Amino acid sequence: MLQGRTIGFIGAGNMAEAMIRGLLEAKLVTAEQLLACDIIEARRRDIDQRYGVRTVAEGRDVAAKASILILAVKPQDMEVALKAIAPSVDQAKTVISIAAGTPIAFIAERLPAKARIVRVMPNAPALVLAGAAGIARGEHATAEDLQVAEAIFAAVGKAVVVEEKHLDAVTGLSGSGPAYVFLFIEALADAGVKMGLTREVAKLLAAQTVLGAAKMLLESGRHPAELKDMVASPGGTTIAGLHALERGGLRGTLMEAVEAATDRSRELGKR
Ligand SMILES: NC(=O)c1ccc[n+]([C@@H]2O[C@H](COP(=O)([O-])OP(=O)(O)OC[C@H]3O[C@@H](n4cnc5c(N)ncnc54)[C@H](OP(=O)(O)O)[C@@H]3O)[C@@H](O)[C@H]2O)c1
Repeated sequence: MLQGRTIGFIGAGNMAEAMIRGLLEAKLVTAEQLLACDIIEARRRDIDQRYGVRTVAEGRDVAAKASILILAVKPQDMEVALKAIAPSVDQAKTVISIAAGTPIAFIAERLPAKARIVRVMPNAPALVLAGAAGIARGEHATAEDLQVAEAIFAAVGKAVVVEEKHLDAVTGLSGSGPAYVFLFIEALADAGVKMGLTREVAKLLAAQTVLGAAKMLLESGRHPAELKDMVASPGGTTIAGLHALERGGLRGTLMEAVEAATDRSRELGKR
């Protein structure tokens, strides 16, 4: 599906680098099929040296050569980036944006009519190829455009297709989620220290426990409640811990956190 196509990155920052790495490691494309631009010269040099990917200074040069364009600049730089690529965008190109909170309509208004736009909300663990992304199809994007985006984001983690209106919820859950999990891990580690473990040991055990539990869930395909029941034996230690968590309202608090972040994402998107 990506055969014979050139993928051009507008903005070669953290996210673009993660995607370049993922695409090359998964052997979905060769370095010759990739092209990137960035306004910072040192960034261009890094990408070129680390991955053998051609880099240029101007977005319009990437747009002219690539058939899949990935907009990976900060939301506040989108206006300028779109201006640079607009003259080269036609109905043969796929435009994928990862700019948080930037609606498809905002992008469409700045590109020629009927541009094939796909909007993606990735998250930070894409940097270690364990991301979770929501993908939404614009009005004129084709089924193949969606498959292309799914393949690209599957190279840096897991990707699901949702309607654009649900990207705020994706932002509240998986976009902001890594921060909730970091806090959870920190709290577990603090608790370990309180119970007498060293900080290093407590941190390692806490992080590995979260990773392992997530892996078990994804690999087994079982319901989390079923797995929870499996590790909570009658009258045992785990059920005592679970009782304390329920008393503290962890479940409700997490639901409120996702709701608050989703609401905030909606609010920011209206600006
Ligand atoms: N990082 C995450 O966890 C995450 C999660 C979800 C969504 N996203 C989205 O992903 C996008 C990229 O994030 P990032 O963390 O990779 O940002 P980043 O590291 O700042 O990368 C953006 C790069 O593009 C450069 N740039 C700015 N304007 C440009 C232009 N007109 N033409 C070419 N290059 C330009 C920037 O240079 P300057 O630094 O000089 O501006 C920077 O090097 C953002 O829109 C963000 O909302 C990120």
